[in-house]
Amino acid sequence: MSALPTNRTYAEQLDAGDPLGKFRDRFVRRDESLIYLDGNSLGPLPKATQSRMAEVVGAEWGAGLVRSWERWVGLPSEAGDLIGEHLTGAARGQVLVCDSTTVNLFKLINAALDAQPGRNVLVTDDDNFPTDRYVLQGIAAQRGCELRMIQTDLDQGPAEGALLAALGSDVAVVSLSHVAYRSGALADMERITGLVHECGALVLWDLCHSAGAVPVRLDDCGADLAVGCTYKYLNAGPGAPAFLYVRAGLQDRLRQPIWGWFGQRDQFAMGPDYDPVPGVERFATGTPQILGTVAVAEGTRLLAEAGIERLRDKGVALTSYLIHLADEWLEPSGFRLASPRADARRGSHVTLHHPDAWRISRALIAAGVVGDYRTPDRLRLGPVPIATRFVDVWDALDRLRQIAADRSYESLPTELSRVT
Ligand SMILES: Cc1ncc(COP(=O)(O)O)c(C=O)c1O
Repeated sequence: MSALPTNRTYAEQLDAGDPLGKFRDRFVRRDESLIYLDGNSLGPLPKATQSRMAEVVGAEWGAGLVRSWERWVGLPSEAGDLIGEHLTGAARGQVLVCDSTTVNLFKLINAALDAQPGRNVLVTDDDNFPTDRYVLQGIAAQRGCELRMIQTDLDQGPAEGALLAALGSDVAVVSLSHVAYRSGALADMERITGLVHECGALVLWDLCHSAGAVPVRLDDCGADLAVGCTYKYLNAGPGAPAFLYVRAGLQDRLRQPIWGWFGQRDQFAMGPDYDPVPGVERFATGTPQILGTVAVAEGTRLLAEAGIERLRDKGVALTSYLIHLADEWLEPSGFRLASPRADARRGSHVTLHHPDAWRISRALIAAGVVGDYRTPDRLRLGPVPIATRFVDVWDALDRLRQIAADRSYESLPTELSRVT
């Protein structure tokens, strides 16, 4: 057992010394008593986004009407460059905000396959996020490719040995999550990218659970492709557009399967044949979602102000504190850590295993703490590094230990009747 204190005063002291403490007030809070530990599902609403959206809707759309396209048309690349500069370590001209993560996966995997004739194996891990696995399954079925699955430990993420066994001269693309959605396991991007390149394949990283929480160094790691969403740590709101990254040296070699007019050279010439622009804009499809892209830019600016390194430090501090309290208070009630214990191997959420995790997650929400449940028997707690306080973690774990001790969750229904 650790020597760290478990009293609430210690959490208050950590908050008093938190250099990001002032950012909590930059978010809309309608219910002061609510503890929100689901920032890795849907991030909170920044006040700046609320007012910027009102301005865009009222002035740019309401008054400017179609004339505003002149300024809107550059937004997907501008927001992409902000993400590249402040969050994902990508030089300008390599990140574009567009479509959803799912659609971007489909575009980039197909483009990567087309660029490597003679290689027809796709590799991913069997605990990758469902949409990643389904998109790869669909592409493999449509194109007659092989999908090779790496077997993964649910708590620790894919092991290097299993990846090495799947690599070979027939592999076209390896597609992995940087941070595993279930356990929060953080992959070694640089090392894995190097291993994939040694076999001559391309690598695609899903950054949904790392962008905005963990510094990502796409250019330095030599990554080829990446996708990520913006409604989690970028706080851009439900259904906000995703982003994609294509390494500069690859862009003009790749041609995506959706030949939309927003990727077309001399778009308004309305010419007869598709001829994609050079650069990352060729991965655009149709009319961009402007309101969502505005929210992506605002959310990214706020994170940039906080600083990704400081956000990472805070994420590590919050999650290791959470693990410390879970060890002290929850282990005797049947909880077990289902995330990597080492800070360097963990993203910004913590998963706890308990045979009754579903009912406990419901009881926790009823007690004013929003976390979430993940199959088969896991409670996922995702503090928002920019907005969560140490006392929030303390209060959440305190309520959790009470629920576990008095077993009040046992009166709740057991069936999985959830939508999210
Ligand atoms: C790792 C990962 N990839 C993809 C997605 C979702 O993709 P989309 O935004 O297209 O629904 C999620 C959503 O939680 C995710 O965690």
